[in-house]
Amino acid sequence: MMKPTAINLTVTGLAYKGQGIAHHLGKVFFIDDVLPGDQILVEDYLDHGSWAEASESTLVSPASIRQPSPCAYSDTCGGCQWLELPYAEQQRWKAGFINDAMQRVGKLSACTVDELRPSPLQLHYRNRIMLRGQLSADGSITLGYFRKKSRDLVPISRCMIATPLLNQVLERLLEQRLLTERAVKFRLNLQVVELFAEGQQASVLATVHPVEAGTATILQGLVSVLQGFAEVLWSGLHEELKTLRLIPFEGGGDNQAPFYTAPEQFQQVNLGQNRAVRHLLSQLVDNVAPRGTVVDLFCGTGNLSLGLAQAGRRIFGVELNAQAIKIANFMVAGRGLTNAQYFHMSADSFLEAWGRHRAPPLKKRRHSPQSLPAEAQGLIEVLIADPPRAGMKECLPHLLRLRPRKIIYLSCDPITMARDIGKLGEAYEVELLRGFDFFPQTYHVETLAVLTLRHP
Ligand SMILES: C[S@@+](CC[C@H](N)C(=O)[O-])C[C@H]1O[C@@H](n2cnc3c(N)ncnc32)[C@H](O)[C@@H]1O
Repeated sequence: MMKPTAINLTVTGLAYKGQGIAHHLGKVFFIDDVLPGDQILVEDYLDHGSWAEASESTLVSPASIRQPSPCAYSDTCGGCQWLELPYAEQQRWKAGFINDAMQRVGKLSACTVDELRPSPLQLHYRNRIMLRGQLSADGSITLGYFRKKSRDLVPISRCMIATPLLNQVLERLLEQRLLTERAVKFRLNLQVVELFAEGQQASVLATVHPVEAGTATILQGLVSVLQGFAEVLWSGLHEELKTLRLIPFEGGGDNQAPFYTAPEQFQQVNLGQNRAVRHLLSQLVDNVAPRGTVVDLFCGTGNLSLGLAQAGRRIFGVELNAQAIKIANFMVAGRGLTNAQYFHMSADSFLEAWGRHRAPPLKKRRHSPQSLPAEAQGLIEVLIADPPRAGMKECLPHLLRLRPRKIIYLSCDPITMARDIGKLGEAYEVELLRGFDFFPQTYHVETLAVLTLRHP
């Protein structure tokens, strides 16, 4: 097929997921690795009618806003998209993505972000990374991330968004030699479980995932090397995680009981922002639910609601990951709380079970709901929901029946969040919409929306 004629374009905007946008003769072009203000030559593209994807393009004249990248791998590594975009601009675009999703997807044009809270750290903020790796026959260890739009490994010796402690482990690992008879691929999950405090040694959990069958024994050598590092509190193969290992996470500090986690357990990647969200949550719940019940949907280990339970609120949490629920209930017991219970079931089954006394059962039941204690029914004063990227479509019919007074929706995907809020739109009013930049240098953004029932 003949190549289309090359086109000179000026990038005018950014799309959600970070691609640049340009217009030509009524067609919208999406281009990778460009910034607003860049002048480019698009040499080849895939034509989809009203829009096109550039597959080959050259930067002719860079935008004046472009800044030098702090990362040596930004041209090849598929991790961060916006290292050359000034931080203030990153925030402006992220707030725009949230507003745009609310208008286009949620059809809620009056809803706009009141503030986008910047990350306390713009680099070295991530306390959890998943590296790809390879042991080679010459004994060397390679670690890195996938190349953009490919599964080729880009070797790195440091990551500009990972915490200094994770980089320390990465650098030490690269100095090692581990002789094997053949090349062996693996994945390495590194997570920080305690913060540096004066005189305290911070610690890392290192989980090695074999990616090819029959390589676990060879990779045990890597586990042993990691175990020898002072920074590493625990290291093991993924298959060892059948036994739960509870590890204090995020220190105790100010005589507070520590949070606990386990290797590979979900934890928010940006601790400073996570604390800011928890702080806002406690203010919001203080204002509206002095005695009422709070439900924490998609609760993980209770990150968002344990503090509320300690402040005296009645908490019911629900989560699909059995290990997370064990950890949450372990922390409840350790704190001597009698006002919080965390349940292992799907969020929609939980809501269905909660409503059984008040509402007819839904026609289509995906799971048979486990029984809940007698108090798990009646009015929900505040419902916190922090679903995965896919959102919580399956919970919406239940929410419209149960009618919690307030819904506090935390989301890492503005599109699915806007879709869900749009569907609740007639019954609920959006009272607050706030962005939290958990992920500087990338297009990702966390959003918190507070919805109030219109007619209680
Ligand atoms: C974004 S995380 C939030 C975790 C927690 N709120 C926190 O701050 O650490 C989403 C959680 O939803 C859980 N999850 C996914 N699908 C679920 C479902 N259908 N029902 C209940 N929990 C689910 C995942 O296991 C994960 O822990």
